[in-house]
Amino acid sequence: MSSLYSLLNIGKIIAGAGSIAQIADVVASFEAKNIVIITDQGVWDSGLVEKPKTILEAAGINVHVIHDTPPEPTVDQVNAICQATKAFACQMIIGIGGGSSIDTAKIVSVLFTNDVILRELVNGKAQLKRKGIPTLMIPTTAGTGAEATPNAIVLVPEEELKIGIVNEKMVSDSVILDPELTINLPKHITANTGMDALCHAIECYISKKANPLSDTFAIKAITLISRSIRTAYNDGSNLAAREDMLLGAMFGGISIATSSTTAVHALSYPLGGKYHIPHGLSNAILLPDVMKFNLDVCEEKFADIAIAMGIDVKGCTARDAAKKMINNLYFMIKDLEIKCDLRAKGINEESLEDMIEAAAKVTRLLNNNPKIVTKDDMRMIYKKLL
Ligand SMILES: NC(=O)c1ccc[n+]([C@@H]2O[C@H](COP(=O)([O-])OP(=O)(O)OC[C@H]3O[C@@H](n4cnc5c(N)ncnc54)[C@H](O)[C@@H]3O)[C@@H](O)[C@H]2O)c1
Ligand SMILES: [Fe+2]
Repeated sequence: MSSLYSLLNIGKIIAGAGSIAQIADVVASFEAKNIVIITDQGVWDSGLVEKPKTILEAAGINVHVIHDTPPEPTVDQVNAICQATKAFACQMIIGIGGGSSIDTAKIVSVLFTNDVILRELVNGKAQLKRKGIPTLMIPTTAGTGAEATPNAIVLVPEEELKIGIVNEKMVSDSVILDPELTINLPKHITANTGMDALCHAIECYISKKANPLSDTFAIKAITLISRSIRTAYNDGSNLAAREDMLLGAMFGGISIATSSTTAVHALSYPLGGKYHIPHGLSNAILLPDVMKFNLDVCEEKFADIAIAMGIDVKGCTARDAAKKMINNLYFMIKDLEIKCDLRAKGINEESLEDMIEAAAKVTRLLNNNPKIVTKDDMRMIYKKLL
């Protein structure tokens, strides 16, 4: 456990079914008259932006919508959206969507107030000095928890790797968690993004950066997600399950904000960066095998996670409870019909060395894994997925 820990949290969180109705009050509290909504084509096409836009316009607020955020955007794509946003002299940015839209909105907000080049921010040559213009984040996947983290992830195509910008100045000013906005989230995205949220919570709980703040949110996230992910998948219109998932995802994000993800996310980055496998899916397929690899050094913590998941561990040793927890992860993935044929994505034995080299660069996360992950270990884990 870290000896020093801190958490910079979101200014205001409004949650619950129908909470989107509060949007105009939130914007008014920042005295913003011109705002830009950053979203993506899928969210736009699903009609989710209509209601907030109508409410804002009825309150006399000028709304401009940018709805072409690409999935898991590159540095250049985020720059293009930033230019489009700047053309509209806005005082506030609202991100509506999954992690792709929210991360883009976070970066655009700080590029308004900091004279930096995004590429230099990504490679660590530039630093943010000022907070961005005010933000409101409205997640519609559950999800990355990006609304609660100081992180924004961009793809750097020439390195075929996703890179995380981590800076407290990107923590959102306000968040609305309305489960009604996630009712029509397609089944496979519900499964993949829900597993991403579970990865965040589990990884933060076992991370070397784990601390009492992250433990509290991580355990609660594990409970909420474990009890509701199957219902959200099988019965998308179940509002109680959708609310659990949104809260669980945000709690996972809060855990990231004070702890860190570990080897699952590090090994996942090359799968996204080079082979464009969606973030949640690559994490989901890695999670059980990486936890199996960590078992020897995490027995007690895995036993805690088993209890949080509602697994019956009466009379079990910590090791047995830990094994039950790992088995539960395999079952969960099966129940959610999560599959990824890596060979069909062009990955084979010959691709492994490049993937290992790329993953080994993600020291920001690998260094927090409770067990050292060697290149041989990575090879073993990747091979299991082939
Ligand atoms: N900043 C962070 O802390 C953090 C953490 C984890 C992941 N990420 C990043 O977030 C990105 C992934 O985000 P994501 O998994 O949320 O996916 P996403 O934002 O790429 O969205 C996935 C798809 O879901 C659709 N969608 C979203 N909400 C919908 C809804 N309610 N109804 C119908 N369709 C909907 C979108 O149109 C899109 O096609 C990646 O770039 C990843 O690296 C960031
Ligand atoms: Fe993630």
